[in-house]
Order: sequence, then structure tokens, then C-alpha cells
Amino acid sequence: MNKSLRKAVIAGNWKMNKGRAEAKALIESLVPLVKDAGCDVLVCVPYTDLETALAAAAGTNIRVAAQNCHWAASGAFTGEISAAMLAELGVGAVIIGHSERRQYFGETDRTVNARVRAALDAGLQVILCVGELLGEREQNITGEDCSMQTKIALAGVSAGELERVIIAYEPVWAIGTGKTATADQADEVCGLIRGVIAGLYGKDAADALTIQYGGSMNAGNAEELLGKEHVDGGLIGGASLTAPDFAAIVAAAGK
Ligand code: PGA
Repeated sequence: MNKSLRKAVIAGNWKMNKGRAEAKALIESLVPLVKDAGCDVLVCVPYTDLETALAAAAGTNIRVAAQNCHWAASGAFTGEISAAMLAELGVGAVIIGHSERRQYFGETDRTVNARVRAALDAGLQVILCVGELLGEREQNITGEDCSMQTKIALAGVSAGELERVIIAYEPVWAIGTGKTATADQADEVCGLIRGVIAGLYGKDAADALTIQYGGSMNAGNAEELLGKEHVDGGLIGGASLTAPDFAAIVAAAGK
């Protein structure tokens, strides 16, 4: 069992929710609830909340992350935000390749790779999302799909840089649907992704990599999911929007 080698990480993905006043209030109510967390705690907030969230979380164990960044350092990319801009604000981490980016905003494995590179170059930690569609699971190609997404996303990433990468396995059919993968399904695919990392970077790197599960994780199912050997944390959408629910998941990760 190598689970004890890895840091559990619980990250809230607020998606396009919470204005600045709400962001401040949510973080302020989270602070006392998660102050003794036995895991890393992140909130991934909308760009416009970043400064507010950083101020509200200053001096606490809550870290603030963004939900995306562009692959270029600067330039003619109207509406985009670069990784260096996030780093300058004091943001430490960023989600890359979330399935909603892939589904609604034309994100591909290649652009995910370019964004991962840019984020690492700017010194950020990356939460890299991979996961299969329902049709792919039904066709029994979950393994191939997650393996390919992982390999392409990490092209050109060195073993040293991998230490700043977390992978979030998020089956697309489980996101925001209330349908959670069973703990065994989550463990199986997280284990498979760890095998892909072992093939690319060696067993020690694979044993050290934090792999999260995401997709309708909540206070009721978190403990079982997080108890699995290969599930080292969670990327939480809906249940991260209220402090008691999110804090209960953080508490489950510390057990
Ligand atoms: P959910 O979202 O917890 O609402 O299913 C997870 C995610 O999309 O990161």
C-alpha cells in the first residue's frame, strides 16, 4: 500500500458560481471548519474572485486556484488569461482540461497539453482533468481513452515538473449528474492512470502522484471513495458551494 506516501488533496471547483461577496463569505465560513484538515484544501474560483479569495484565505491553510489559463504568455488572445498573470496575483494552482472546457469550449488533448506546459512554466501547480464519456465507458474503452488523454496532456513534462501535477479522474457521465462512479470503478481507473504514469516516469513517480476522483462526490460518499488505494483526493463541484458540505469531504479525506 503506497497510499500513505501521497498527500490527499481536496479541491473545490466552484465553476461559474459565486460573486465576490459570496466568495468572501464562503471562504470565511470554511476557514474554521477546515483549519485542522489532514489534507491539502484548495478552492478553484472564477477569475474575478481570485483577489477576493486570496485575501480571505491569507494566513489560512486554504489555497486558491484558478479554473483555466491560456497557453501563451501574452498576446492577441481576447478574453484569455495567462498563467503568468495568475502567478503574479499569487495564485498557486490551476485546473487544466476540465471536461466542461473540452465539451463547450473546443479544448482538445493538444490544447490541454499546451496549457499544462504554460502553467508549469509559470511555476503553477496543475490539476489535470481526464475522463471518459458515457459512450466510451459503454464501449469498454475507458482505459484507452484516459490513458491517451493523460499521455498527450503530459507530453514534454519532465519528471521534476510532474511533482507539481495532480491528476483528477472525472468520468464525464458522473459530473453534476448525481451519478457517482462506484468506489471500485473510481479506484480501477485511478489505478490505471497510475500505471500509465509508471510507464512514463517510473514507479516511484507514480507512487508519489496524487490522483483525485471527481464527479458527484459529496459528504455521503466521500469516505468510501477516498478510502480506496488509488483515490487520493477529490475535485468537488456542486458540494463545494456550501461550507458544511465541503468541510465534511475535507474531514473524510483526513481519516
Ligand atoms: P460535481 O463536479 O462534483 O458537481 O459533479 C465535479 C467537477 O466537475 O469537477
